Amino acid sequence: MSAKTFYLETFGCQMNAHDSEKVVGTLEQQGYRQVDSEEAADLLLYNTCSIRDKAEQKVFHRLNDYKKLAREGKRFGVIGCVAQQEGEKIFERAPYVSLVAGSASYRRLPELLARMEAGESRVTGLDDRETEETFETEFTARKNPYRAYITIIEGCDKFCAYCVVPYTRGKERSRGSESVLEEARRIAEMGYTEIQLLGQNVNSYRDPTGKKSFAELLAAVGEVSGIRRVRFTTSHPRDFTRDIVEAIDAVPALCDHVHLPVQSGSTRVLRRMAREYSREWYMERIAWIKAARRQISISTDMIVGFPGETPEDFEETMTLLDAVQYDAVFGFKYSARPNTPALVMIDSIAEQEKAKRLQILQDRQREIQRANYERHVGDILEVMVEGNNSAREQIVGRSSQNKPVNFTWKHPIAPAPGSYQQVRITRAFPNSLAGEAV
Ligand code: 5AD
Ligand code: SF4
Repeated sequence: MSAKTFYLETFGCQMNAHDSEKVVGTLEQQGYRQVDSEEAADLLLYNTCSIRDKAEQKVFHRLNDYKKLAREGKRFGVIGCVAQQEGEKIFERAPYVSLVAGSASYRRLPELLARMEAGESRVTGLDDRETEETFETEFTARKNPYRAYITIIEGCDKFCAYCVVPYTRGKERSRGSESVLEEARRIAEMGYTEIQLLGQNVNSYRDPTGKKSFAELLAAVGEVSGIRRVRFTTSHPRDFTRDIVEAIDAVPALCDHVHLPVQSGSTRVLRRMAREYSREWYMERIAWIKAARRQISISTDMIVGFPGETPEDFEETMTLLDAVQYDAVFGFKYSARPNTPALVMIDSIAEQEKAKRLQILQDRQREIQRANYERHVGDILEVMVEGNNSAREQIVGRSSQNKPVNFTWKHPIAPAPGSYQQVRITRAFPNSLAGEAV
């Protein structure tokens, strides 16, 4: 029996990684079998990202690299954020593509696949902001051996001036808390001990059944028997409430880490970005996190070179870094995106100047992290094993605070991914810790 085969490559964020797990499960349910090379597949799928121009270009490069396979009768599908954003224009740029579907249409995948199988040459699923439904499936093919993702909210209604997500992932829609908890229990029964709750704005979560706030849902997931670590991403400062910090203090399984993207330290720029908070508002939330009984690690995203960002604005971003003392900062140069409100603003800052600002930001942050990480030397941390680095004969994992930890291990059999080890930290670097199992 020769099952239809597919190859799937994923770009972008954790939401996309998890969508792919659901897409794989759905395809397998439809009688497809996943293979790990383009050449071996009947159907080639790309789950794409369009957050910045560079990310978007990747899919067109990939389609171009493999277009010769179209002559062998293989089919191509573009799904995810570029699919939603570009829609039918993708058929113009790559005529051998026969399926284009955004994430808000994945629940219709079986039907879309069937139409493609039946010979339709241009099948689209572009529901965009029309759908109220979430994509839930019991067939999720969980590919990560130690971390299970659960989507709690899809889409985004924030419309930050620079961001494509409201256009690519549709309107905000939350899943019922009972359904989330049921999935968490099922995951625990499968043997997972770490859960990551996902959403473009997890803390905008609004239980359609009215039973639980985000903080209550977070706490309830942390109390599921067998679950030892719960993470959540990504949070918007506007919806970041104090009870989230209280939940972390109260429930040991909630990890001591919050990712709270700020984007800029200048209130003037934040206003232009339509972030709907000021620097002071953000710093108040940081103060709550820092006042917790547990030592909660904080990380963020920053954009440099947003249209109109003056040297003074950028300086405020730098002083914010000093004030918060983040454990990780993901810095990006502003990239103009289709459909977004910022498109009409003049992208006046030269690429070179953006690169310079990003470098200054990263250099400063490196020094901050060097000091932060150095403070762990002598600590004994609980590390969840993610794998091993055989070249350096080290086990790699993460602390509850999400810091990468590499450690030596004396026994001949390496600890399994997903297991926990106590590690004495002996050295610190700006992005990782090193130590030995105790
Ligand atoms: N240009 C640069 N960075 C962006 N991000 C989102 N949109 C853009 C853009 N147009 C960044 C933000 C966001 C992260 C996921 O990507 O910092 O938090
Ligand atoms: Fe990329 Fe944003 Fe889509 Fe994630 S939601 S894949 S980051 S564009």
